[in-house]
Order: sequence, then structure tokens, then C-alpha cells
Amino acid sequence: MKSIMVTGGCGFIGSNFIHFLLSESGFTGQIVNVDNLTYAGNFENLEGLDEKFSGRYRFIKADICDHKAMVQVFETFEIDTICHFAAESHVDRSIIEPDAFIKTNIIGTFNLLELVRLHQDRIILFHHVSTDEVYGSLGKDGYFTEATPYDPSSPYSASKAASDHLVRAYHRTYGIPITISNCSNNYGPFQFPEKLIPLILLNALEGKPLPVYGDGKNIRDWLYVKDHCKAVWKIMRKGNRGKTYNIGGRCEMRNIDVVRKICDLLDEIEPRPGNKPRSNLIAFVKDRPGHDLRYAIDFSKLEKELGWVPDESFETGIKKTIKWYISNQKWVNRVKSGEYKSWMKQHYENI
Ligand code: NAD
Ligand code: DAU
Repeated sequence: MKSIMVTGGCGFIGSNFIHFLLSESGFTGQIVNVDNLTYAGNFENLEGLDEKFSGRYRFIKADICDHKAMVQVFETFEIDTICHFAAESHVDRSIIEPDAFIKTNIIGTFNLLELVRLHQDRIILFHHVSTDEVYGSLGKDGYFTEATPYDPSSPYSASKAASDHLVRAYHRTYGIPITISNCSNNYGPFQFPEKLIPLILLNALEGKPLPVYGDGKNIRDWLYVKDHCKAVWKIMRKGNRGKTYNIGGRCEMRNIDVVRKICDLLDEIEPRPGNKPRSNLIAFVKDRPGHDLRYAIDFSKLEKELGWVPDESFETGIKKTIKWYISNQKWVNRVKSGEYKSWMKQHYENI
């Protein structure tokens, strides 16, 4: 791999992936980050990389649905590998306004696959970053494996399922070298504070209500973002072409327990006036429609075939995350201005 196009590199996971690739992975080629900077894309996530890695890192502001722009990127930078993160990623938004999810997640992925088909002679790999949400919801027992039938519940997960099917179909029909990863819930630096962990963390620091959907007993499997990046890179280098790999944290937690844990840690690090516990701020609110009860990932295929296991536990990962948000106030203030405010207002009127 000499020239990797990373789509969605200004988002949460994409920006962590680019930092990892340039600084820690041993990759010596060039990275072309293609992102159209939606509300979730933040140029500041990659501040300084242009200078620090000059000649090896390029940012191109473009929409993955724009065929002409993508052809230009492919040809100008002689792309041989694609790592595809770009997506509309927030379930609640997909319930309120699904259009952009269908466009970016399905049409955008289709557009990239068509381009790869046209440049097939020089494409080494198309890696598609996907989610465990394509498998739907589990009851009390069991785990998602790579063989679990798809059963998505939200417009977001349905659009990701559609894109996974397209990627697999392009492998079977045209022989495109692909890999797919389906990962559980990520947390860590640079996550937009509409998702549970950064939202609770920042509200708790400001003494604002901590919204928990329904009874808070829904379960998610949590993975520190850098562990996800390491897994994706391992799959890209060593994964069997045409195959899917589940990625997870072996860290199932009820939402209410995640929220309480963040409250308790913040109470230790930055006690509130009068030592009032932050858990008093928890507010149970109307549930998300179609809210999946439980996600749990069996990633033994990735562990056995490629030797990947997460490095961080929830305890170590959440402490690093809290520390990062507390020390990056400038980033937090900028992200929380503008579009964020109107979304929060509209969203909490809707639930
Ligand atoms: P994010 O919302 O933080 O970032 C998405 C990025 O894609 C943004 O920078 C945005 O500007 C860009 N983008 C959106 N539409 C685009 C378009 N049409 N053209 C170009 N760029 C566009 O998302 P994330 O949480 O970093 O997720 C990245 C990927 O990982 C997604 O595919 C998501 O489905 C998948 N995933 C996320 C999680 C998680 O917990 N966040 C877990 C598993 C899988
Ligand atoms: O499982 C992987 C998926 O994880 C990714 O594919 C998605 O892109 C990512 O957004 C995430 O989806 P979730 O819907 O699980 O994440 P979210 O942070 O929105 O919610 C986590 C859980 O917390 C979920 O059960 C809903 C609940 N929740 C969420 C918010 C925002 C609350 O109780 N209160 C909240 O305010």
C-alpha cells in the first residue's frame, strides 16, 4: 500500500485512524483524506499534520457522492487503497432526517465502489468500516458473529447494512479485493458530543441534566477508539480478502452504568461545589424509537486469525477520555457552538 484514500478522516474515528497511521503504525506511504466537512467533520482534529508530515498527508474537501471529484482524487494521487469511514453516523439523527444517511452511506459507497471497479487494475484493497448495528438487537443471551443474519432497526443501521451488501457484492461479482469490519460502540478523543459518552461527560462537567433513554438498561459493548484503529489496520494488512471481521471490546455495559461511572470518576477528579454527586443530574427521558436492547460482539475470528485483542479496558479508556476532554477546552467550545446548539434543541424537543 503506497497511497491510501481515507474517507471521513475529519470525523471521530477517521481522525484517530489518520493520527495512528502517520505516527504509530509504521506505514510510510501517503494518506489522502477526503471529507466534505459535515457538522461531524472537524478540520481541527488533524491540525498540524500538513506541516509535520508534509508530502505524506493531504486533505481534500469533497463529497464521496460527487463522481467527478472522486475521479480526480483517484487519478491525481494514484490511489491504490481505500479505507472508507465517511458516513452519517448518529442513530437519533437518522430517525429524524434519514435522507442524508441514504445518500452518503448507500449512494456514496456505491460511487466509490464504481470508481474502484474502473481502476481495478491498481486497487489493492477497499476496506469498509461498518457497525455491529447491522445485526439488529440481541436478547439477554448470545453474541453477534460474522454469520449472524442482518436485521437492522434504524435508518442508520439499514443504510450501513445496504452498504455492506454492496461491498460484498462487488467482491463476488467483480472480484474487487475488499475487507469489511463490523465494530461495536467507540469512545475516546475527538468524538462529537451528540453520542452518549461525550454528551454525558460534558453535561456532567457543566452541571446539566444527563439524559438517559428509557430505563437505561439497554446494553452496548464499548471499545476505546485507538483499539478500533489498530484492528482496522491489522485487517487491512493481514485480513483475508472478501471477508468480514467483527471488532469489539468484550465490555458489555448497561447505559445507566456507563453514566454512573462517568459521574463517579468526575466527582473524584473535579468535585462539584458542596460535593454534590453528579449522579443526581441523571434524567430518564423518552426512549429512542426502535431502540435496540443489547449488542454483544464475538470477535474470536479476529483474535484467532490475526491475533488482535483490545489493549484498553473500560476503566483505562474512560479515564484517558475524560482527561482528553478536560484538557481540550478549546476544541470542546468550538464544537459545541453553532450547529450543535440547534441540533440539541431540536432533538430534545423530539424525544
Ligand atoms: P463521524 O460522524 O464522527 O464522522 C463521519 C465523517 O464523515 C465526518 O468527518 C463527515 O464530515 C464525513 N462525511 C459525512 N458525509 C460525507 C460525504 N458525503 N462525503 C465525504 N465525507 C463525509 O463518524 P464516526 O463515529 O467517526 O464513524 C466513522 C465510521 O465508523 C462510520 O462509517 C460509522 O458507521 C462507523 N462506526 C462507528 C462507530 C462508533 O461508535 N462511532 C462504531 C462502529 C462503526
Ligand atoms: O454500535 C456501534 C454504533 O454505536 C455505531 O455504528 C454508531 O455510529 C454510533 O453512533 C453508536 O450508536 P449508538 O446508538 O449505540 O450510540 P449512542 O452514543 O447514540 O447511544 C449509546 C446508547 O446510549 C444507546 O443505547 C442510546 C443511549 N443514549 C444515547 C444518547 C445520545 C442515551 O441514553 N442518552 C443519550 O442522550
